[in-house]
Amino acid sequence: MKAAYITQFGGPEVLTYGDLPDPVAAPGQIVVDAVAASINGADSKVCAGEYPGSPKFPLVLGRDFSGVVAALGDGVHDLRVGDEVFGVLETGRDGTYCEKIAIGGAIVAQKPADMTHVDAAALALTGLTALCTVEDTLKLKAGETILIQGGAGGVASFAIQLAKHLGARVITTASAANRDYLRGLGADEVIDYNTTDFTQAVKNCDAVFDTVGGDVATRSYTVLKPGGRAAFIASGAKAPPSDRTDVTGLRPAVGRDRPHLERIVELRRLGAIRAPVVTLYDLARASEALKVSAARHLKGKLVLKVR
Ligand SMILES: NC(=O)c1ccc[n+]([C@@H]2O[C@H](COP(=O)([O-])OP(=O)(O)OC[C@H]3O[C@@H](n4cnc5c(N)ncnc54)[C@H](OP(=O)(O)O)[C@@H]3O)[C@@H](O)[C@H]2O)c1
Repeated sequence: MKAAYITQFGGPEVLTYGDLPDPVAAPGQIVVDAVAASINGADSKVCAGEYPGSPKFPLVLGRDFSGVVAALGDGVHDLRVGDEVFGVLETGRDGTYCEKIAIGGAIVAQKPADMTHVDAAALALTGLTALCTVEDTLKLKAGETILIQGGAGGVASFAIQLAKHLGARVITTASAANRDYLRGLGADEVIDYNTTDFTQAVKNCDAVFDTVGGDVATRSYTVLKPGGRAAFIASGAKAPPSDRTDVTGLRPAVGRDRPHLERIVELRRLGAIRAPVVTLYDLARASEALKVSAARHLKGKLVLKVR
């Protein structure tokens, strides 16, 4: 099969396009003929060797996909060859920038006929992450106010829509060029982080969802009211430390399971979530797309067209 993979850690330029052996379905697995795979913020970090663990080279990058079931391993009885499915690889696994993907059948979901493979791939990991953070971890409620850092990114643009659907007031940070895009997703207030210090402009939030990391993450605690909670996905395996003892810092556990993917489908059916702005690249141009992602200033999602 064709794949975009690395044989050493480095910048996006180490991503090679070439041939690798087709995977086979182990018991409990399916093999999917991928149609689309998305690029996530984590991918350039995996490429650079910034994730723990010792991956085996050649390493195919990528975590989410949409495609068609091509083979069933022993014990898979609830899917059929030809089903259109989407999903996210098991935690700790990478490998969707390619034509054929082996994955546990239990953690994929049926793609609705009215959702394109491109949109399904674009929504899979970002949706899973936003759901695990906003609903499961922060337990955001109607009437609460949330600050979502990095609004124009993949995870945050899903989270903005979800928070609005739950009845919360949403404040978000982005560069000025993304203001109208984020207002269109439902954000009540968009703060241009290049001209305004959010710690001066925002206070008394019930919740913060940080997708930016670094100094932005650490300073986010200051906008919380006493009893407030903050969730972090770009600060490593733990929430960053805080001097405040009256607020809670949380690191969401983003698992992989079918019910969360079905929740994405349901939210889309209800009209609560729409697919982000997508920029498409052919699989052969994965390195170029990864370079754009690594620069961390994109709007919406980058998606690889596999076939
Ligand atoms: N399972 C997990 O825990 C999990 C899952 C997914 C992602 N993540 C992590 O979450 C982070 C976000 O991922 P993603 O895929 O959503 O990222 P992304 O799509 O690459 O988002 C980048 C966005 O960050 C914005 N940005 C950059 N600097 C900013 C700042 N100082 N203030 C506000 N916005 C800023 C950019 O907007 P502008 O163009 O407006 O600057 C851009 O839209 C990554 O670090 C990723 O590794 C973790």
